[in-house]
Amino acid sequence: MSKTSTIFACAKCSAQSPKWSGRCFECGGWGTLKEELKATNDKKPKNDFSTPAEIIDLNTIKLSDFPRTKTNISEVDRVLGGGIVAGSLILISGEPGIGKSTIIAQIANKLQGNTIYASGEESAHQVKDRLIRLSSDLSKIKFISETNINKIISSLKQNKVELLIIDSVQTVYADDIENEIGTINQIKACTAKLMEFAKSTNIPVILVGHVTKDGAIAGPKNLEHMVDVVVYFESDDASDYRILRANKNRFGSTNEVGIFEMASTGFNEIKNPSLLFINKNQENLPGSVKSCIIEGTRPFLVEIQALVTKTSFGYPQRKASGFDLNRLQVLIAVLTKRSRIDLSNQDVILNIVGGHKSIDQGLDLAVCAAIISSLKNKRISHETVIIGEVGLAGEVRLVSKLKERVLEANNLGFSRFLTPIGFKNTNIDITEIKAINDLVNCI
Ligand code: TYD
Ligand code: MG
Repeated sequence: MSKTSTIFACAKCSAQSPKWSGRCFECGGWGTLKEELKATNDKKPKNDFSTPAEIIDLNTIKLSDFPRTKTNISEVDRVLGGGIVAGSLILISGEPGIGKSTIIAQIANKLQGNTIYASGEESAHQVKDRLIRLSSDLSKIKFISETNINKIISSLKQNKVELLIIDSVQTVYADDIENEIGTINQIKACTAKLMEFAKSTNIPVILVGHVTKDGAIAGPKNLEHMVDVVVYFESDDASDYRILRANKNRFGSTNEVGIFEMASTGFNEIKNPSLLFINKNQENLPGSVKSCIIEGTRPFLVEIQALVTKTSFGYPQRKASGFDLNRLQVLIAVLTKRSRIDLSNQDVILNIVGGHKSIDQGLDLAVCAAIISSLKNKRISHETVIIGEVGLAGEVRLVSKLKERVLEANNLGFSRFLTPIGFKNTNIDITEIKAINDLVNCI
């Protein structure tokens, strides 16, 4: 026999509680708990073995490449793994104002077919203003000013389009779901409807999602598992550069990054991204070193700065910006134990210039070099690039893509290299460093 019981569910985060309270214990929202009737069934349902699921023989499935449409913006295509796959659901997330609406408008403009741009955030006037600023072809991009997802989807059934854009997922709602707009339940329900639409019509959908600095509770993080592709749009605060990074891709790798520069007419692709984070011709000061990291499949040159000063009080300080602090502490311990460099009463501050963050192990040797250079107050020439991983025994280990790193830096005008054993080229001045002590002797 079934009976009903009362529960209280939060309208914002859907957390359930047996008792009413003024504040949701899960998300902290005030006055969000609403009474709901819940039917409970005392009898356990009987197992029903009468309708079997279909068993598929995988040998009969024919494999074909995913049909992709190139966006003709090479940095976007690179991140998406070669273009937009038909019927895929792509989530672009990033902080407000980073340029999500701009990049998707540029993508829509580059496609051959028509795009429907549904926005609950901006008026037709604002969207047109942006499209004109981006010199878009207005005949290809149609606008829907609607937030009801059911209405948006049904209007698409009557129009032939190549791409649907929803800007943003936080502003759409499904009228058959009770929760408030912007709540997790609404966002999930709308995403599920869009997924069904994309798969049944083969029309790709790009969803825009805002991430706030405090990682808002109803944010796009909650729907990352539901979509095919998740790309993050990031920036470092100091510059106009934007980095597009795939965080999940059911149709390609997640290694690649795309780099753009914001101009008055939208985003431009960066022609020579390897030099993005450094000033190539500037003389190095003591403590500054150039290295080369790999982001995705591409090499980027970075500059590392270390400041080593005598500890004036208590324990020596270690600070790192853009580099893992634990890794810095390990490298300091290795330097102290395995070389003549004693850092036990020295403060060490490390920074990757330009706000870049990296966990590339190939930076180890350059970090050690920057520390030694600052401690000895000796300059390392600005034409030198230092690459290599440092082991706990003080040995210098080979890193992935050493050849690509050296050749790229050499093409960009760097002439001297300190690297682990592994790549030789008679035309390039490469000094092989076997152990951390060899590095100390070079500086
Ligand atoms: P927008 O795409 O609206 O950001 P989001 O959708 O992520 O919130 O644009 C962000 C900023 O970019 C906005 O402050 C204005 C600036 N911008 C330019 O500098 N140049 C341009 O051509 C455009 C379209 C925008
Ligand atoms: Mg926007």
